[in-house]
Amino acid sequence: MKAAVFHKPGDIRYETRDDPKIEESRDVILRVTSTAICGSDLHIYDGFLPQLRSEVLGHEFMGVVEEVGSGVTNLKKGDRVVVPFTIACGKCYFCQKDLQMHCENSNPEEYGPDGGLLTEKGGGLFGYSDLYGGYDGGQAEYVRVPYGDYSLRTVPEEMKDEQVLFLTDIFPTGWSSIEWGNLKGGETVAIFGSGPVGLMAQKSAWIQGAGRVIAIDPVNYRLERAKRVNKVETLNPNEVDVVQAIRDMTEGRGADLCVDAVGMEAHRTVLDKAKAAINFEKGSDSVLETCFRAVRRGGMVTVVGVYGTPFDNFSLGRIFDKGLQIRYGQSQVHKNIDYLLDLVVQDKVVLDDIISHVLPLADISRGYDIFKNKEDDCTKVILIP
Ligand SMILES: NC(=O)c1ccc[n+]([C@@H]2O[C@H](COP(=O)([O-])OP(=O)(O)OC[C@H]3O[C@@H](n4cnc5c(N)ncnc54)[C@H](O)[C@@H]3O)[C@@H](O)[C@H]2O)c1
Ligand SMILES: [Zn+2]
Ligand SMILES: [Zn+2]
Repeated sequence: MKAAVFHKPGDIRYETRDDPKIEESRDVILRVTSTAICGSDLHIYDGFLPQLRSEVLGHEFMGVVEEVGSGVTNLKKGDRVVVPFTIACGKCYFCQKDLQMHCENSNPEEYGPDGGLLTEKGGGLFGYSDLYGGYDGGQAEYVRVPYGDYSLRTVPEEMKDEQVLFLTDIFPTGWSSIEWGNLKGGETVAIFGSGPVGLMAQKSAWIQGAGRVIAIDPVNYRLERAKRVNKVETLNPNEVDVVQAIRDMTEGRGADLCVDAVGMEAHRTVLDKAKAAINFEKGSDSVLETCFRAVRRGGMVTVVGVYGTPFDNFSLGRIFDKGLQIRYGQSQVHKNIDYLLDLVVQDKVVLDDIISHVLPLADISRGYDIFKNKEDDCTKVILIP
């Protein structure tokens, strides 16, 4: 088969690889019809998350069932399905608690309770380094899906790939970032990052009852898209003092909920870079710190942007004084995907209005390049194998 193979940071090539085979009875082999590049892939591409071996990346993909293992009775060749990005057995302690990202069986080599820097990580992820199971991902013509009987969801024939592809990751991720904020109705929600995840959080905030949604991003074309497709207010940190602006918009108090949909690869100042070098930090926690300042007293900060290392000078004093609640982590795709698929089918939300580029998979390196460097007004790249 042909696949996009990561070799080292900055080096992804379209190459020939062996076809995947059924290895376990619950496996499904999928012929990928659409796949996407995620901001999380950039952490590997940019060398923020280590991967020493070559690997097929990609955890946002959908396709058609090609072959099923002997233990799979609920799917057959030809079924069209979407795939949650967290690999989960459906049977263990955490899967039973709807915390499938902590599945005890899908990352046998590196799993553990500690959540250390390079050891004892969570459950397996498609195409997301040896630390998360070493599975080949979906930026390929074919992919092996473990526990396919539990994870795969069939989609109605009339839905186009672009309409449902984002159920694999970014819509459930944006959804979790708001769901964890427990909105009652009418709240002001400030969403940092207007990339694909931030855009999905904006959509989710309106559906879950926000009264006001403010998008923050230093890249103006991304704010323009946010305004156009999600009818949000926007702030550019290069043009205004974001914290002051949010307080001015909320009678001096701050937003009820701040969402960090940026993570460690935030745009950095020289000072941020010096701090990171001195403290052995990867990237910057500047967005998270801004969230703590921009949220109101007693408010909530949710974090779906990815952080890898510890950070020094973390604002524990401010968090205590303001009495903040915080929730971090990988999104709950398995828990929410069926409900979210229904919203799409019933036309209560449109997801494909964030796509800026549809490319053949062979153009993978250009795809990574324009997405990372924000060229050609790139917001989200879809690849067709
Ligand atoms: N928790 C999860 O399950 C999960 C799932 C998917 C993605 N993610 C993470 O979510 C984050 C965003 O993903 P994405 O696909 O939207 O990526 P992206 O890189 O396209 O989006 C990040 C956005 O943040 C903006 N930004 C940079 N510095 C900023 C600042 N100081 N203030 C405000 N905005 C700033 C960038 O301009 C960009 O538009 C990544 O860290 C990704 O790894 C997490
Ligand atoms: Zn992703
Ligand atoms: Zn499990």
